Amino acid sequence: MGRHGVCMMDIRAMTLDDIQAVSALEQRVYPEPWSESVFHDELAQPNRRYLIAVEGDEIVGYAGMMVILEDAHITTMSVAPAARGNGIAKRMMVRLIDLALAAGAKHLTLEVRRSNESAQALYRKFGLAPVGVRKDYYLNEDALIMWASDIDKADYEERLRRVREEL
Ligand SMILES: CC(C)(COP(=O)(O)OP(=O)(O)OC[C@H]1O[C@@H](n2cnc3c(N)ncnc32)[C@H](O)[C@@H]1OP(=O)(O)O)[C@@H](O)C(=O)NCCC(=O)NCCS
Repeated sequence: MGRHGVCMMDIRAMTLDDIQAVSALEQRVYPEPWSESVFHDELAQPNRRYLIAVEGDEIVGYAGMMVILEDAHITTMSVAPAARGNGIAKRMMVRLIDLALAAGAKHLTLEVRRSNESAQALYRKFGLAPVGVRKDYYLNEDALIMWASDIDKADYEERLRRVREEL
């Protein structure tokens, strides 16, 4: 296990106190980063769930979701470059899906850049498949819309069980 091995890693709910560090990571990861005020607005909404992954006192990842009726929509998923490849995103996905199910969601969806193959591979592991394209969703690129149905059913539970075994 590397320096960023998952043994020392903890996942917990993002709070207002985390926003500055999360926003700093956001700016390193994305060409069109969310401002701190977007994170403030997101955390203020009752149907949002935001998580951070922490190693020691460093935030190495964060992820967010909104739940609208039966649909859980993943809004963001980021891991610090040096911490990638250690299962941190997988762990955050599992936690988000647990929260989605607890909130009554039955389906999971998100947008991802067409060129973002590593993220698409992550999402395929969680049963998300491409169902459409949002043209020019990003500044210079289309988004793939990915979707997983019936996450509250036995087949999906089995898929999640297999992913949990890899963690
Ligand atoms: C995509 C991202 C969140 C993955 O985080 P991570 O912690 O490195 O991912 P994990 O180690 O949990 O890997 C989970 C799965 O993702 C896929 N994956 C991750 N990195 C990959 C890579 N470089 N190439 C191919 N697949 C990859 C694999 O399916 C992997 O499962 P496996 O290890 O069982 O094969 C991270 O690369 C990142 O923050 N990228 C920049 C931001 C971004 O693109 N976010 C998604 C926006 S929609």
